[in-house]
Amino acid sequence: MEYANQYDNSINNPSRYWLERSQAINWYVPPSTGLTNTSDTQYNWFEDGLLNTCYLALDYHVEQGRGDTVAFYYDSPVTGVKQQLSYAQLLAQVSVFAGAMKRAGICKGDTVIIYMPMILQAPIAMLACARIGAIHSVVFGGFAASELAVRIDDIQAKMVITASCGIEVDKIIAYKPLVDEAIKQATHKPATTVVYQRETLTAQCSRASDIDWMDFIIGAEAAPCEILKSNDPLYILYTSGTTGKPKGVVRDNGGHAVALKLAFNDIYGLSAKDVWWAASDIGWVVGHSFIVYGPLICGASSVLYEGKPIKTPNAGAFWRVISDYKVSSMLCAPTAFRAIRGDDPQGACASHYDTSSLRWVFVAGERLDSSTYHWIADLLKVPVLDHWWQTETGWPITAPMMGLNNPRPTRVGSTNNCTPGYDLRILDEDGQEVSTGGVGNICLKLPLPPGVSTGIWNQPNRYHNAYLSTYAGFYKTGDGGYKDEQGYVYITGRTDDVINVAGHRLSTAEMEEIVSSHEAIAECAVVGATDALKGQVPIGLVVLKAGSKISNADLQTALIARVRQKIGAVACFKEVFVVNRLPKTRSGKILRAVLRKIAAAETFQIPATIDNPEILGEIKEYLKAR
Ligand code: COA
Ligand code: AMP
Repeated sequence: MEYANQYDNSINNPSRYWLERSQAINWYVPPSTGLTNTSDTQYNWFEDGLLNTCYLALDYHVEQGRGDTVAFYYDSPVTGVKQQLSYAQLLAQVSVFAGAMKRAGICKGDTVIIYMPMILQAPIAMLACARIGAIHSVVFGGFAASELAVRIDDIQAKMVITASCGIEVDKIIAYKPLVDEAIKQATHKPATTVVYQRETLTAQCSRASDIDWMDFIIGAEAAPCEILKSNDPLYILYTSGTTGKPKGVVRDNGGHAVALKLAFNDIYGLSAKDVWWAASDIGWVVGHSFIVYGPLICGASSVLYEGKPIKTPNAGAFWRVISDYKVSSMLCAPTAFRAIRGDDPQGACASHYDTSSLRWVFVAGERLDSSTYHWIADLLKVPVLDHWWQTETGWPITAPMMGLNNPRPTRVGSTNNCTPGYDLRILDEDGQEVSTGGVGNICLKLPLPPGVSTGIWNQPNRYHNAYLSTYAGFYKTGDGGYKDEQGYVYITGRTDDVINVAGHRLSTAEMEEIVSSHEAIAECAVVGATDALKGQVPIGLVVLKAGSKISNADLQTALIARVRQKIGAVACFKEVFVVNRLPKTRSGKILRAVLRKIAAAETFQIPATIDNPEILGEIKEYLKAR
C-alpha cells in the first residue's frame, strides 16, 4: 500500500486500521476490537487479545521451521569474542532461564531489574521475563548505584539480574559492587540477585540472596509461555523527565508487538531475510525495540555489539561489523558518526571493508546536523534517514517508510512525515495550531497508536500531568519544531529541561538537585551547552553562599564527583562555572529558557520581566570562553 492511503486510514479509522495490522502477528486469541475508549484520554488497544511476546520472538519462528536462522550475532571487540545464537538455541536458553526464574518464585506480574552490559545474557534475561509474564526493567550500565536504588524501590523488584562486569574502552566496570551498594541504599530488598560471571572479572557472591547464573539454571526445567492479555505490562523503562525523579514508562505486550512488526517491516523496510544492527544499548528504548523485540518478532538477525564506534579498536569498527555480518541496514545516533569522523575525517577506514550489503542508514536520538548527514551519505553512498521518536512512544513518530512503495524522499534537516497513527500538530502556548512553517510545541492528537506507553509506573496521575494536561486532547512531546507544506517535520529541540548528551536523554533538573545540595551553593542552574561531538553537554552555573570559603577549583571537583556518584558517568557533567548571580524574573524565577538559548549559542530576546539583564552578558562571556 502507498504511504498516503495507509496514513489516511490510520487517522480516519484507527480502530479498524490497527485491527487489520494486528493480524500480522500470531496471537493465541486474536483481538475482536482495535481501540476501546474508557474515557477521552484513557483507551486500550486490542483489549481481548491474548498473546506472549517471547512466543512471537522465538517459539513462533522455530515452529515455522526457521530454528536455524541466526537470531543474534554477538560481536564484542572489547573481549575479542564473536558468537552467534540461532532462534532454536536462543529459545532453549531463554526457556531454561525462565524455568529457573519460576523455580525461584518469580510469577506473572512480578518485577525484575536487569543491570547488564551488552552480552547475550541480557536479551536472554529480558525474553525470559517476557516468557513468564514478569515485568522487566533494564537499567543502563552507565547509571550509578543510587539511580539503580531508585528503580529497585520504585518497582519493588523481586529479583536483580546482573553480570560481574561491563567493559568500557579503557576500563572494567565492576557491576556487582554497584548492585550491592544500590540494594544497601534501597528500602526494598530484592529476594534474589543472579550474577553472570564473565571471564574478565569474577564477582563476589557473598550475600545469601546472591546466586551465580550457572548455579541458578542448573537442573531448571524449560518454562512454557504464559498466556498474557494485550494490556499486561511487558516492561518498564525509566527515562528522564522535567523533575528530579525519573519516570518509569510502562509498555504493554499487544500494542507493542503490533507496532514493532509494522515499524520493522514498513519503516525500516526489512524482513526475516535481513541482518539488522541497532548500534545502541539494551538500556535505552532503541535497544528494547530494535536490538531485541522488533527484529526478533520479525524473524530477522540482530547484531548485539559490545563496543564503541571508535577506539575498539579504531574508527573502522562500524564498517567491519557491517562487512562481517552483511548488515542490510543499521540505526544509531549521529554522535557515533561524529566520533568516527573526528578520528578519521576522510573515512579512510571504510575503504578496508566491503559495506555493499548496506541499503540505508537510519539515525535518531538527537538532531542530525547537515555536515554529519553529508559526511555519512558521501562516504557510504546510501540513503541516510533521519527519524524521530521517544522512549514513551517506543517506535518512530516521523520517519521515511522504506518498506512501502515510493517512500517519501529525505529532506535534509527533517525527520520526514508522520508514520501511521500519529496525528501531529504544532501548537502555540495557547493551544492554537500554528500555521505551516511556524515553530511551536509538537503535540500528538489522541488517541495515540498501539505501542505508545499509556502510563507511568506507580504514579497514576503523572502520565496525565506530564503529557496530557497542557493541551486538552493532545499528548505533548516536549519537543519543539515545525512542519512544512508537505507535512515534513523539523525538530528544533526540547522545550523543557531535558537534554540530549551523545543520544542519551538526561534531566538537568535532576543534576540541579544534586548540585544545589552542596553546602556552599546558594542556587544553581544546569543547562545543555552545544558540543561538537555529543550534541549537548551539561554545564552548571552556580552561585555561592555568602561567606563560602571553598575555592572554585575545589568546588568544581566536588560537584563533578557528586553528579557522577549520584547519576553516573553517563551524565558527562564536567563543567561548572561560578557566577555572581543568575538571571531572574522580578518574581524571582530563574530564566532557564534564556540560559538554554545562551548555552546553545542561539539568539535570544531579553525578556521584559527580567530583574537583572546585565547578568546575561556576563554569562554569555563565561560560556564563550569555555
Ligand atoms: N557502562 C558503564 N559506563 C558507561 C557505559 C556503560 N554501558 N556507557 C558509557 N559509560 C561511561 C563512559 O565510560 C564514560 O565514562 P568516563 O567519563 O569515565 O570516560 C561516560 O560514561 C560517558 O560515556 P559516553 O557518553 O559514551 O562518552 P565516551 O566519550 O565514552 O564515548 C561516543 C563517546 C560518541 C563514542 C559514545 O557516546 C557513543 O558511542 N555514542 C553513541 C550514542 C548511542 O548509542 N546512543 C544510544 C541512543 S540511540
Ligand atoms: P529518548 O526518549 O531517550 O529516546 O529521547 C527522545 C528525545 O530525543 C526526543 O524527545 C528528542 O528530543 C530527541 N530526538 C530523538 N530523535 C531525534 C531526531 N531524529 N532529531 C532530533 N531530536 C531527536
